[in-house]
Amino acid sequence: MAYHQKISSASFGPDFLWGVAIAAAQNEGAYNADGRGLSIWDSFSRRPGKIKGGAKPFEACDFYYRYKDDLMLVKALGFTVFRFSISWSRILPEGMGRINKEGIAFYHKLIDECLELGLIPYVTLYHWDLPLELQKNGGWTSHQMLKWFTRFVTVCAEEFGDKVKNWIILNEPMGFTSLGYMLGMHAPGKTGLSNFLPAVHNAALCQAEGGRIIRSLVLKANIGTTFSFSEVMPYTQREEDMLAAKRVDAMLNRLFIEPVLGRGYPHVENFPLLDKLHLHNKAWKYIERMKFNFDFIGLQNYFSITVKHNPLIPYLHASEVKATTRKAPHTDMGWEINADSFYRVIKRVWLYGGVKEILITESGAFFKDELVNGVVNDEKRIDYFQQYITAMLKAKKEGVNVNGYFAWTLTDNFEWSEGYKARFGLIHLDCKTQLRTIKNSGYWFRDFLKTY
Ligand code: BGC
Repeated sequence: MAYHQKISSASFGPDFLWGVAIAAAQNEGAYNADGRGLSIWDSFSRRPGKIKGGAKPFEACDFYYRYKDDLMLVKALGFTVFRFSISWSRILPEGMGRINKEGIAFYHKLIDECLELGLIPYVTLYHWDLPLELQKNGGWTSHQMLKWFTRFVTVCAEEFGDKVKNWIILNEPMGFTSLGYMLGMHAPGKTGLSNFLPAVHNAALCQAEGGRIIRSLVLKANIGTTFSFSEVMPYTQREEDMLAAKRVDAMLNRLFIEPVLGRGYPHVENFPLLDKLHLHNKAWKYIERMKFNFDFIGLQNYFSITVKHNPLIPYLHASEVKATTRKAPHTDMGWEINADSFYRVIKRVWLYGGVKEILITESGAFFKDELVNGVVNDEKRIDYFQQYITAMLKAKKEGVNVNGYFAWTLTDNFEWSEGYKARFGLIHLDCKTQLRTIKNSGYWFRDFLKTY
């Protein structure tokens, strides 16, 4: 069966990278196999009420044992890039010190298999699964974080640097610092500014330092890091809503990229939270150290957001006016679907200047899929991809150096605090039997990529 193609992958040229992305904590499972240490997600998921349905990442998609089959699926769908992350506690069970040889062996096998199949590995160093032992000593809030991260990155570079050339230092630092160290919704479940401010600073330092380590240890490395970008729109044109949008924008979109570009943390007038961030971390001393000349910036976009002034919300004084309330098109996560806004964020990142290349390192959507007689007819997801890929093409045609699109994600997986019900995969996962069924969106990609 051929799927209706509104656009063709040929329009992107032969060098454009089409990939699919996963993450260790969301896919691997095998949480205590072969000497792996625990991560903050293994322990956080045991806390009652933290994860929907009481779900745990212990088995996830069993990728640790099924990686060969999964990579065959990546290949069968026609992708040429496979983005995955390394589980820190699998290779350094205590986060520091002792190396777990079996963990290292797993990633060698995975990388070798990719290379054998002609899939280019893009390796994320940190996709949110800090070793639990490090969290016991403060995790991302600790002054020791840079030392711990240096050790981890060094081990990875020395072990895999001969085979892997494409490295991603952090996955969405705003995601794990805000959800994990401010709002308590993600592991390790910490809250408040006393956790958030140091976590942000340590992440900003690690993202640049990680880049420097890979540059010095890996010959011909292609180094990037990823950020989530979400266009922030004011609910009304009233001044207080416009200012609210400015504050939220600084937090969501500017906080981590501007230090990388050498501008330090952003400044917004009358926004004491940012002033505190500057002061608490003596940020002016670190402008140079937070800077790194990345080869590419990984742009990840899942929604645009509309906000209004709300004095009851601490620090930000802003709250979201949800897409569902506004009756705007949205995914089953309630996230606004707005491909024009995707186009605008791509342009905006490019117009910063100093960004050499943009890769869309994650893009995808959760819709409530139904598996009926072995078929998942996820038309909404197909439509989503068509709209977003078309928007990206528009930006490319206007001169933005955007050279890759990695769909999120391969199989349905452990969607953090949403558990297993929020399905983003191109492949349906039966969590009980581990059976994989390619969704129609997967077949859509296969046909889309074949047209080249
Ligand atoms: C994260 C993924 C996550 C996706 C959907 C991204 O921010 O990198 O791990 O599954 O969002 O929520």
